[in-house]
Amino acid sequence: MEQKREMWSGRTVFILAAIGSAVGLGNIWRFPYVAYEGGGGAFVVPYLIALLTAGLTLLFVDYAIGHRFRGSAPLSFRRMSRPAEAIGWWQVGICFVIAVYYAAIIAWALRYTLFSIGEEWGDDPAGFFTSEFLQQDSDAVFGFDFVPAIAWPLLIVWLATIVILAFGVQKGIGASSVVFIPVLVVLFGVFVVRALFLDGAATGLDAFFTPNWSALTDSGVWIAAYGQIFFSLSVGFGIMITYASYLKRRTNLTGSGLVVGFSNSSFEVLAGIGVFAVLGYMAQISGVAVDEVVESGIGLAFIAFPTIISEIPGGPFLGVLFFLSLVLAGFTSLISIVQVIVAAVQEKTGLGRVPSVLIVGGITAVTSLALFPTTTGLNTLDVVDNFANNIGIVTVALVTLVTITWVLRQLPDLEAHLDAVSSFKVGLLWRFFAGVLTPAVLTWMLIDQVVQRVQDGYGGLPDSLVNGFGWGVQIAIVVVAIVVSRLPWPRDTDTTPPPLLPEPVGAEPTGTEGGSR
Ligand code: ALA
Repeated sequence: MEQKREMWSGRTVFILAAIGSAVGLGNIWRFPYVAYEGGGGAFVVPYLIALLTAGLTLLFVDYAIGHRFRGSAPLSFRRMSRPAEAIGWWQVGICFVIAVYYAAIIAWALRYTLFSIGEEWGDDPAGFFTSEFLQQDSDAVFGFDFVPAIAWPLLIVWLATIVILAFGVQKGIGASSVVFIPVLVVLFGVFVVRALFLDGAATGLDAFFTPNWSALTDSGVWIAAYGQIFFSLSVGFGIMITYASYLKRRTNLTGSGLVVGFSNSSFEVLAGIGVFAVLGYMAQISGVAVDEVVESGIGLAFIAFPTIISEIPGGPFLGVLFFLSLVLAGFTSLISIVQVIVAAVQEKTGLGRVPSVLIVGGITAVTSLALFPTTTGLNTLDVVDNFANNIGIVTVALVTLVTITWVLRQLPDLEAHLDAVSSFKVGLLWRFFAGVLTPAVLTWMLIDQVVQRVQDGYGGLPDSLVNGFGWGVQIAIVVVAIVVSRLPWPRDTDTTPPPLLPEPVGAEPTGTEGGSR
């Protein structure tokens, strides 16, 4: 017998889980820098346009696919059309790659939560991070010497992920999101309020919000806005397809999407305020302009922040708040990324949830533990992350949209599905954004990214690393996806498309069935 599909208990749990997935490392350490570099206050223009034309559009596409076809990414695409199954596995492959390095960053943040208490990085946070903590070997390219001090927090992250996923969609992912998201909001809220009371906070905010309109003529700023939205909203790589597949039949999809999109963007702006208030303090005590202390990603979290924490009265408190927020935000995103793989393996093999979680969690954890707690883990992570985001997600999102719009002509059915269950009807504009505008922007982004990497390599790193962990990994994902899509489904799996839902009758409100509103 085909397994009974797991379900969220209601719409609120789904929304919290979806916010948990969306709000992640990308919001806290990437958005503030991207916005600042992209024109500060003026960045609101490309950001909002990217959110409306691509972010929410793709979110609705993902919701519609998962909810209409009621399956993991591969099964949903298989039900749409047999050859399309490979797209689902491609998304699963991208999730696998992101999961293995994303967990490593959460593990570092976990360790830094404890380091904050005693400011253990001493006088040289940069040296402490790369040499003492990560023990990086700057001469080696592939030196897989193991660093146990990073391995154990990583093991904890993986064990926690496996346990939560083993509890299932509602009791594991849903229940943990209901606790973690409010805690994250409180922790991060306290962090931002404390940051706003620092000397120099106003200078930082001034730098963050002052519009530089000329940045809008730079195509790189628009590409950055679209890139930020894709990663940040968790759209285009299977997560929202998987999560939406566990929703009850009559659930207000677009209404939920608007709540998730708005919450995610609000959290990003909050992060921008908190981070720039702290950077303003740093600039003030160093007697330099804010642009001299601005950092992004790993440099911001693990070098600039520790430096500042050492200078601030009550720094350890602020440090714990910041790193714990990173851990929680990252962890709820990691769970969603791994769930994409678990759901796919569970359905393709017909195994139960727990064995599927153990197999997927085991393989992902071992890969993660083999690659990142090593003396060359940092550069490997940098390359894998950059290619997964800028090449992998962009390409698979483009292929998905072109396939469903122009090859399989699914948009009218998906639109009918969204409209049959949702309060906010998507209309022709959504089809134009999904079928024409977003694919055009994605094509442009992809060409830009490929040309850059072919001409300049990546980050001055050795070609062998870039070719192996960058291009090599992305190409391998596609090959494996095609191969796996040729393997048979369990005999009792229904691979035919479910019938379209009828339009709601009369003025009956949507989303009320089964308390799913
Ligand atoms: N959406 C998640 C993030 O922003 C993956 O980090």
